[in-house]
Amino acid sequence: RLARTLRAAAVAILISSSAGADDDLMEAARQTFKPIPSVVPAVKDNPVTHEKVELGKMLFFDPRVSASGIISCNTCHNLGTGGVDAGPTSVGHGWQRGPRRAPTVYNAVFNVAQFWDGRAADLKTQAKGPVQASVEMNATPDRVISTLNSMNDYVVMFKKAFPNEVAPVTFDNFARAIEAFEAILITPAAPFDQYLEGNTNALDDQQKAGLKLFMETGCASCHNGINVGGQDYFPFGAIKKPSTSLLPIADKGRFAVTKVAGDEYVFRSAPLRNVALRPPYFHSGQVWSLKRAVGVMAEVQLGVKLGDKEENDIVAFLNSLTGQLPKIEYPILPTRTDTTPLPSL
Ligand code: HEM
Ligand code: HEM
Repeated sequence: RLARTLRAAAVAILISSSAGADDDLMEAARQTFKPIPSVVPAVKDNPVTHEKVELGKMLFFDPRVSASGIISCNTCHNLGTGGVDAGPTSVGHGWQRGPRRAPTVYNAVFNVAQFWDGRAADLKTQAKGPVQASVEMNATPDRVISTLNSMNDYVVMFKKAFPNEVAPVTFDNFARAIEAFEAILITPAAPFDQYLEGNTNALDDQQKAGLKLFMETGCASCHNGINVGGQDYFPFGAIKKPSTSLLPIADKGRFAVTKVAGDEYVFRSAPLRNVALRPPYFHSGQVWSLKRAVGVMAEVQLGVKLGDKEENDIVAFLNSLTGQLPKIEYPILPTRTDTTPLPSL
């Protein structure tokens, strides 16, 4: 009987201590990360209205804002494939290959600033870039405005989206509408969000082990907050320089923005929400396996060589960051008119 009592006591202790460890893990996670809100976030200086979102969605899918007439935002930020293109780096106007991987537009609204080097402060500043970039859409603001003005349905939609303006079809408002649409591209209710909200069963044991490793190994010191990253800048190769295929010499990252020597090869810590949906990884897009990307990070950022099981556990945790993608209905776009600029390659 004594043995049975002892066994029962041991089991009770085990249960309570494992419950205690579980509570501690959840508490630590809550201090480091934040769930994705289930309501559309407010955007600075740009109230998100239904009319703006609808217009922004059309602009996001409309290839006629590019000079060729074949490239839309969705070409490189395909909402059906995690908000990215096939990679490794983007292919734009005239089949030119750009230098960097397209980051996802999902949850981009929560990043501290836009691009791998953070050179655009927000999404409305960002949206003006790709339209004009010669390797992306190769258009001009004037061409975009002529295109939009040539189709009356667009003019009507701009009036509805910006009701207090006399001449609302402007490049700034084009960018504002796209920003409003991007604000709805959030992906709440991932297993990890449910966990942060108090459901300890939302993660399985392997994912919890991965979460613990992610915090204890030091990943979370750079990847934290709502987007599990996207909040701050760090050298890619903090401890050990990655190979030049992963970190091409010509792209010095944040140095191009700040011109401070210490910012050479500094990049924004990548946001890891939905990371499992969008290989290949890193700004150079050369790593196709998430497990390999985890191994590389441990080595070059922390000087740690992870074992096979540890890598698998962290990957299992990263899989719990895949949320519910919004249902986006493909928009029917206004028909071109005689005054719409012709496509030019
Ligand atoms: C970066 C949106 C068109 C390729 C970004 C980011 C956003 C975005 C929000 C930053 C995301 C982040 O930093 O987390 C848009 C919109 C577009 C558009 C609204 C249409 C107006 C394109 C096109 C291409 C492209 C057509 C490919 C030809 C890229 C690349 C980056 C990027 C390579 C990273 C650039 C860098 O870090 O220097 N885009 N994009 N985008 N986009 Fe786009
Ligand atoms: C990128 C995971 C530690 C800073 C990434 C990516 C993954 C990842 C999967 C690629 C995401 C993508 O391409 O979309 C991890 C894991 C870590 C870890 C599992 C721990 C083992 C760190 C630490 C730092 C850091 C400690 C800061 C010192 C960065 C930066 C990038 C990145 C700057 C972007 C690199 C680039 O320019 O391509 N991380 N990370 N990471 N991480 Fe980490």
